[in-house]
Amino acid sequence: MTAVRSQSAEAAASPAALRFPPGFVWGAATAAYQVEGAAAEDGRTPSIWDTFSHTPGRVLNGDTGDIAADHYHRYRDDVALMRDLNLGAYRFSISWSRVQPTGRGPAVQRGLDFYRRLVDELLDKGVTPVATLYHWDLPQELEDAGGWTVRETPERFAEYAEIVTRALGDRVPYWTTLNEPWCSAFLGYGSGVHAPGRTEPESALRAAHHLNLAHGRAIGVLRSVLPATARTSITLNLHQVRAHSRSDADLDAARRIDAVGNRVFLGPILGDGYPEDLLADTGHLVDWDALVRPGDLEEISRPIDLLGINYYTPTLVSDGRESPDLPREDGHGASDHSPWPGSEHVAFHLSPGETTAMRWAVDATGLYDLLMRVHREHPDVAMMVTENGAAYDDYISPEGTINDPRRIAYLRGHLSAVHRALADGADVRGYFLWSLLDNFEWSYGYSKRFGAVYVDFGTQRRIPKQSAHWYAEVARDNVLPD
Ligand code: NOJ
Repeated sequence: MTAVRSQSAEAAASPAALRFPPGFVWGAATAAYQVEGAAAEDGRTPSIWDTFSHTPGRVLNGDTGDIAADHYHRYRDDVALMRDLNLGAYRFSISWSRVQPTGRGPAVQRGLDFYRRLVDELLDKGVTPVATLYHWDLPQELEDAGGWTVRETPERFAEYAEIVTRALGDRVPYWTTLNEPWCSAFLGYGSGVHAPGRTEPESALRAAHHLNLAHGRAIGVLRSVLPATARTSITLNLHQVRAHSRSDADLDAARRIDAVGNRVFLGPILGDGYPEDLLADTGHLVDWDALVRPGDLEEISRPIDLLGINYYTPTLVSDGRESPDLPREDGHGASDHSPWPGSEHVAFHLSPGETTAMRWAVDATGLYDLLMRVHREHPDVAMMVTENGAAYDDYISPEGTINDPRRIAYLRGHLSAVHRALADGADVRGYFLWSLLDNFEWSYGYSKRFGAVYVDFGTQRRIPKQSAHWYAEVARDNVLPD
């Protein structure tokens, strides 16, 4: 698939406009715990994020997802907003404990009904539903039984996947098994800044394997339940890892982070197994031979139709022993525990340039490099940018508008990186802005606003930001204007 410069009238008026390929999907994304609220309604039971956010000290300002953006009750208005913003697709996730409260046994019909109503509303308004089965909210009962560190959880996940796809498979054309399993494994069980807040390197690696296994098993279920036209995928937060210098030590630091940040998932999922260097770097922490059982790699490598990629900022590393005085940065929240098992001496740094409210460097070349890397290594893999966006300290102006030129610049830069990757041969099928709405930004609570649409959490009023209007035009025209 190759993108070409637009020959249209608009392009004639503005020669630098970039036209995207016909059928390119323009969407926005959210996740259940971040927007739904209604935490105890219609039979939903606590997930690990309810427990975590209700534990003092875990989330900034003690924020929780109890109400969030109240999307559970306001989904009709939100879908109308999506239509007004010309979105072609909406990526949302399903709350496991809303559908299957204990993580086992029969489904709760009222929980499934919510998603059926949401999906029907989307279809009615011409917005394509893109469903993610797991965006970090494991039923608490399953965590109590060991969570992602035990092999029972992938089994439960496959059962849950079957319940959901039998209920909605006839009307949802795109399915994603897991969102960012790196965060579930390494922030959840390694650094502990995400639920369930455990800080055990062995558990983090076990979780990574069991998440891979859960993905593979669910793909098996999806393929047997869904119509042949359905597209299956997993979404990874791939790290565009850069070494601070060309020294052997810094290059080795980058290799280690690439292993435990990217190839721990890419390898087995795309059929290459676990990389030898990862096994060597982490062999003292976990017994891989006991963890990976015969048949696991076959299950994990079941073919997928799309690889979802989430990208925000590059990852700049050095060997901390070599240049101990370089200023360090940890983009994943304060913790004394590393989310990178086997890479303890690696130091992280802020990439040059301006930063967003997350203190993440704005660098669109990272997205281009990532898409081209996957394309080079796996030319047949079709990709979808399932998240990209930026948090800024947005506020309502006296005129009642939200003027966010920096977000527009961020989106413009990253969309032109996607366009460049398309022009250079990468097979990218679509782009989802993170996020449709301001929402619960995990351990940062409501302090970080990623939305294209501003949410006044006191009144739940929605106000599309200037960037939402800008993005609506891009989506409508399939063109990135000059
Ligand atoms: C990735 C996650 O999938 C999403 O839940 C989160 O809000 C964004 N990144 C921004 O941090």
